Amino acid sequence: MMNDTKAVIAHGLTKRFGDFTAVNNIDFEVKRGEIFGFLGPNGSGKTTTIRMMLGLMKPTSGSIEVLGKHVDGDASKILPHVGYMSQRFSLYNDLTVLQNLNFYGAAYGIANSELKERINNALQMAGLEGREHARTRELSGGWRQRLALGAAILHRPEVLFLDEPTAGVDPLSRRAFWDLLYKFVAEGITVFVTTHYMDEAEHCHRLAFIQRGDIIAYGSPSEIKAQKMRGQVLEISASDAAQTVKVLRAAQIPLEEVELYGSLVHVVAPDVKKHQRAIERELRRARIRVHQLSIIEPSLEDVFISSMKA
Ligand SMILES: Nc1ncnc2c1ncn2[C@@H]1O[C@H](COP(=O)(O)OP(=O)(O)OP(=O)(O)O)[C@@H](O)[C@H]1O
Ligand SMILES: [Mg+2]
Repeated sequence: MMNDTKAVIAHGLTKRFGDFTAVNNIDFEVKRGEIFGFLGPNGSGKTTTIRMMLGLMKPTSGSIEVLGKHVDGDASKILPHVGYMSQRFSLYNDLTVLQNLNFYGAAYGIANSELKERINNALQMAGLEGREHARTRELSGGWRQRLALGAAILHRPEVLFLDEPTAGVDPLSRRAFWDLLYKFVAEGITVFVTTHYMDEAEHCHRLAFIQRGDIIAYGSPSEIKAQKMRGQVLEISASDAAQTVKVLRAAQIPLEEVELYGSLVHVVAPDVKKHQRAIERELRRARIRVHQLSIIEPSLEDVFISSMKA
């Protein structure tokens, strides 16, 4: 059945290896034209889920629909319409950038008459212009990543599946890579991207957080914050942050969490404002000077850490 607004629909998706469950009965949908993030620590089931989406692995149970087609372990149905960048991007190190793209173009069956234009387009979109003749082995991690991405979009896929594309890449290149993904989305491509960097969650339109095969949070960053955060965050800047943590942990105030964030202290509690006076009183008694005290929006990282503890 065609579904014009959904790029991916997973329903009860499960994968077992023997009696070990790698992906446990998960449901999610990816809308067309969004960046959907699949976040989770090592071994949580990200690659296994991607493999099932691409038809490279058959689910033990449940179903997966990509671009309106039931995949069910059959890659041939969808591969012409999707791009895939695997976790260890497979490039030929002894070839140049251009030779790699030519190779992938031929592998995708792109006609010679079109290949040159497609390659130029990929070089431009991936920001690789001027590096056509560089040997792949001489490229830094960030450039190799862009080349792998260029290869994955040569055949103009509707959906891109990227498996940890930013792993091991420096922060500046990671930032530039996300800018590229926004460019793709502006051109109408849907992006499904896995990562174990929690700070990348905020860049996604919507996301699922997977832990040991289970989805433990799902939605847009603000939806997830609203669902998962048990309280508000009060941020305190004081003369002695470490001492502030000690004093507040020992205080007779019903606070859920008191944590040090660099030189600032985060206090989490439902309706934390109610305790502001008591907090100030405790700190004054301990001779700690408070410079600033304000309610802040929690980061998704705060949220994940607090839901993983639970
Ligand atoms: N073919 C297999 N046979 C047995 N166990 C497997 C197989 N493939 C994966 N697993 C196990 O399933 C779990 C999920 O693996 P998966 O590769 O999907 O995790 P991941 O989230 O991609 O991890 P990483 O961040 O390390 O890439 C792991 O415990 C892994 O050891
Ligand atoms: Mg993986």
